[in-house]
Amino acid sequence: MIIVIIGAQWGDEGKGKVVDLLADRFDIVARYQGGHNAGHSVYVGDKAFVLRLLPSGIIHEESTCVLGNGMVIDPKAFFEEVDQMTSQGISITPERLKVSSRAHLIMPYHRALDHTSEERLGNEKIGTTLRGIGPAYEDKYGRRGIRVSDALVPELLKARIERGLEEANRVIVMYGREPLRSDEIYEEISALAERLRPFVCETSNFFAQAKKQNKKILLEGAQATLLDVDHGTYPYVTSSNPTAGGAAVGAGIPPHHITGVLGIVRTYATRVGEGPFPTEMLDAEEDMANLIRQRGNEYGSVTKRPRRCGWFDAVATKYAAELNGFNSVALTKLDVLDALEEIKVCVGYEIDGKRIDTFPAVSLDLAKIKPIYETLEGWKSDTVGITKIEDLPAKAREYVEFLSNSIGVEIGLISTGPERDQTIILQDSVMESWFK
Ligand code: IMP
Repeated sequence: MIIVIIGAQWGDEGKGKVVDLLADRFDIVARYQGGHNAGHSVYVGDKAFVLRLLPSGIIHEESTCVLGNGMVIDPKAFFEEVDQMTSQGISITPERLKVSSRAHLIMPYHRALDHTSEERLGNEKIGTTLRGIGPAYEDKYGRRGIRVSDALVPELLKARIERGLEEANRVIVMYGREPLRSDEIYEEISALAERLRPFVCETSNFFAQAKKQNKKILLEGAQATLLDVDHGTYPYVTSSNPTAGGAAVGAGIPPHHITGVLGIVRTYATRVGEGPFPTEMLDAEEDMANLIRQRGNEYGSVTKRPRRCGWFDAVATKYAAELNGFNSVALTKLDVLDALEEIKVCVGYEIDGKRIDTFPAVSLDLAKIKPIYETLEGWKSDTVGITKIEDLPAKAREYVEFLSNSIGVEIGLISTGPERDQTIILQDSVMESWFK
């Protein structure tokens, strides 16, 4: 069994908790795109783990974790996270953590270029995490990137750094910054590469063997559908493909080996960084945004930026469901809406007076959208920690059903709090079969 987990909105839907719940049913948990721009918070008892690069499965000692070829890895950030996890009592060894030899490395100059690129864009900046993600992917697709396997060959690494830095420094200097030094970068990266060596693996071969042994594999998407470089709200996106198709490429697994796609959908929407967000709570709804932000703790787990908050967007989420082929959906953060009198759901868009029910490609159109809302009654009671669907207030059940109908996918799991056991798994759902 190979399942892909993908955020359906603009990220931060609560994938970390769901992956953590599923992880001990799976032998292998892997990431296939992105880098340490991700931030999954997982709460276990009184311990909080923040994962950036490592798959959430790392918390389960039985799981083997993989960083796939589609990722961009900052070796310094990688070891900071490994050391942090180790200090929190998690054992991390090359036996249980594999890093693809084909993944690309984020270099110090990629971080500098992320800053200059945002500066250059001025008012049209993307609002990136400034981790060097975009510039590292630019080098990958420009065929001048440095892969994990290259970094293990000293003379190759040295030559690649010199070449990469020559170009990067031109831009860095143009923006009035100090040029970076290739000898310093080489010294830093070669030492980190040596430390990385035991973890390096031909991961697609590892997956092929695992498949033969009927191992269960969970592919964990980072960021989310609407941040996908092809299918998201371009150019306000990340530089990789979090969507289901990206999982096959980014992990090196044949598409037909993937048995299911699980969407993570939150009961409302958020977005960090710039870019269109049709259902954003603005102006008159600012108090509502503050309430949701505070109840849902909607601050970036990596950057601590306050997240923009908005109503559930059924048009965008249905688009995500169809694009990824969700077989089932985990609905997160139901309890955050407990305090609301009324809840709005966007069921259609209007652009220049015309109704549309599809998700537009053009960012100018996206910015012009007037959402068409349906308003549902809130349930005004505490759902925190409820574990059975029949114990939810009737209005909460109606809300869940409304969302499921409007996106056309079953909801197989409902999260009623950050802890593992604050979860409802619906009987006879596709989701239930993944938990067996
Ligand atoms: P980058 O991935 O750092 O290049 O940032 C590109 C866009 O994706 C920005 O709007 C970021 O805020 C957003 N982004 C990147 N990673 C995440 C994430 O894990 N959650 C939510 N937004 C993200």
